[in-house]
Amino acid sequence: MLEINDLKKIYGDRTVLDIDKLKMNKGETVVIVGPNGSGKSTLLKILSGVIAKSEGSFGFDGELYYLPQQSIPFRKSVRKNILFSAKDSTDKEQRCNELLKELQLMHLADKNAKGLSGGECQRLALGRILINKCDLLLLDEPSSAADIEGTEIIENAIKRYREETGCAILMTTHSPRQALNLADRIIMLREGRIVEEGRPEQLLSAPQTEWGRKFIGMWKID
Ligand SMILES: Nc1ncnc2c1ncn2[C@@H]1O[C@H](COP(=O)(O)OP(=O)(O)OP(=O)(O)O)[C@@H](O)[C@H]1O
Ligand SMILES: [Mg+2]
Repeated sequence: MLEINDLKKIYGDRTVLDIDKLKMNKGETVVIVGPNGSGKSTLLKILSGVIAKSEGSFGFDGELYYLPQQSIPFRKSVRKNILFSAKDSTDKEQRCNELLKELQLMHLADKNAKGLSGGECQRLALGRILINKCDLLLLDEPSSAADIEGTEIIENAIKRYREETGCAILMTTHSPRQALNLADRIIMLREGRIVEEGRPEQLLSAPQTEWGRKFIGMWKID
């Protein structure tokens, strides 16, 4: 459902993304991990059309929604932020209420979203995406600002949406626990290139490269 071939992003003399091949199946969740600056956001920005590729090609079937690493809420109430993002008006009030409840934002529904805390704002950003149905979700560190409970809320909302829609998900995280919780497949990026790829248990038990072994060695999973 997603196919990438020889995709590159080059800034000046620096290639920050260089992906030979990446294919995703319908309904598959692929989690991208890798250090700061390894090209994770760059990949999602290119696929979502926020920035242009330098070389190569990519294609996907169906409709895509993108959650940026940092999203800015509209200067409206929390409820209106979600409603305003709904493309289809069928049942949107009901779906909005379900999301407000699921994302534990109901008590803030009538407050201006500009006053939300970082973690609340991130839950709202996800709500604005999940009000719509799509075939491919691109999520850039969806819970980076969330506390432990907020992270669980976000992961559960992603799982429920995935079950209900059957969508594929390409997401990034710095949380090993989150990668293991959500991924069908994990991809490890280093300096823009895929250095490891496999099922979570495969990657954990048998990384193929020295660098991958060291990176996994730093993972603390509780
Ligand atoms: N407009 C730009 N001009 C030059 N370099 C850029 C530009 N945008 C991004 N980069 C560089 O591209 C590299 C990849 O950035 P990217 O945001 O994809 O990293 P990331 O893996 O998402 O990191 P993080 O974990 O910190 O979010 C970084 O080194 C960044 O400095
Ligand atoms: Mg990033």
